[in-house]
Amino acid sequence: MEQATLPQAPAAGRRSSPPGSRAPALVQAVRYLRDPLGMLASHQRRYGDVFTIRFPFFGQIVYVARPEFVKEVFTGSPSVFHAGEANATVLEPALGPYSVLTLDDAPHLRQRKLLLPPFHGERVQRYGELIVDLTREEMASWPPNEAFAMRPHTQRITLGVIMRAVFGVHDAGRLARLEALIDEFAQRVGTITAFPLVRRDLGRFSPWGRFVRSRERLDSFIYEEIALRRAEPGHEERDDVLSLLLTARDEDGRPMTDLELRDELVTVLAAGHETTATGLAWAVERLVRNPEVLAKLRDSIAAGEEDYLNATVKETLRARPVIVDVARKLTAPATIAGYELRAGTFVLPAIAALHYREDLFPEPHRFRPERFLDGKADTYAWIPFGGGIRRCIGASFAEYEMRTILREFVTRAELRPADPKDERVRPRNITLTPAKGARVVMTGTPG
Ligand code: HEM
Repeated sequence: MEQATLPQAPAAGRRSSPPGSRAPALVQAVRYLRDPLGMLASHQRRYGDVFTIRFPFFGQIVYVARPEFVKEVFTGSPSVFHAGEANATVLEPALGPYSVLTLDDAPHLRQRKLLLPPFHGERVQRYGELIVDLTREEMASWPPNEAFAMRPHTQRITLGVIMRAVFGVHDAGRLARLEALIDEFAQRVGTITAFPLVRRDLGRFSPWGRFVRSRERLDSFIYEEIALRRAEPGHEERDDVLSLLLTARDEDGRPMTDLELRDELVTVLAAGHETTATGLAWAVERLVRNPEVLAKLRDSIAAGEEDYLNATVKETLRARPVIVDVARKLTAPATIAGYELRAGTFVLPAIAALHYREDLFPEPHRFRPERFLDGKADTYAWIPFGGGIRRCIGASFAEYEMRTILREFVTRAELRPADPKDERVRPRNITLTPAKGARVVMTGTPG
């Protein structure tokens, strides 16, 4: 990554409230919901490397947008910088109290250690063939010579991959049932995560009522799958995530309970497909609008190289981070970026603002994979997967999956944008997606 010299950080421990807009919380929230990426980047330029945004329900949030400050947050004591507590305010209704995303301290580490191995470095490569097969199958459904949105297609591929990787289910009927249940759950969950005030039982047809029913249906499938697997002779030999978790024991020799298993499985399913599908849709959206990058990518793949493909994936996640910020809630007073912050404060590394800093990523609005060609990405400047002890468990898996799917797309299909204008960034659940789903036209049929 390109080097940058940053001005000196402010002296520590003097002030208590970083600058921010004085507009009412509702106005700030509406601005944020309309364009989170643009708002975070413009706040960094206007207020500096640490700023606040005020939201209804959540109150004042402190954002940091400079690598040194991000480092302070990511390397701070996990018992003070609670990510689980912060995530739970948004995610607990969906993921539950035993999810690796909503836990903190020792219970978090225990779940994290159990979940890490199946998603670790080289192990993800055994999914290569599966990813290629599912991609080719999906590409056969692309309509030739007419505009279509890419996102639903990338989502079907990544969902297919994660369902098989997590459950090891290959029976078409059960897979179709699980897909329908996840689809329904995903449709209901958005309102619940975005608007905590609707988390109230106002009857069967209220948003909460519908959400709870879709969650019950998904859960009963998952509990059924857990019971089936437990009863299956030789499941200890299987290498899907469910089988691995069933045989896993913590340091005291304890297996996971069914409640823990349910929360972890839903977490990996939820965290592991929509994010990657959106990243892929953005990769396509960016590539078709930058034909010289697309041509270079094709040539490099034809020459059997991986570097430019890897850099393209990294540049996509820089320019269009699927998740704009990551949250920590202070359990004790802490000094961050020179501000003394009270216990209870939410502190968020502003991914989008960092990725659009001119001094870290010159010409940030240009889509230029070359900036990552040396293979490195600064741990505290390029942070699409968060960082520290909470860094995304699926990062290697996601990057590998994106590379594998993109390779198929660009070598087997001739794509152009359905509309030359860049697609706007639109929030969807906790991700940022292309507003029109990355609409493209494919010339002819896939090769
Ligand atoms: C492009 C795709 C993805 C993006 C952009 C992404 C991004 C993130 C981010 C920003 C976090 C929060 C990190 C923090 O708080 O510092 C996270 C956490 C997590 N992600 Fe991902 N993710 C992606 C794919 C995946 C996949 C494929 C999986 C599973 C296979 C996954 C599983 C998780 C889990 C379990 C956590 C919680 C880690 C913890 O709290 O210890 N993610 N991800």
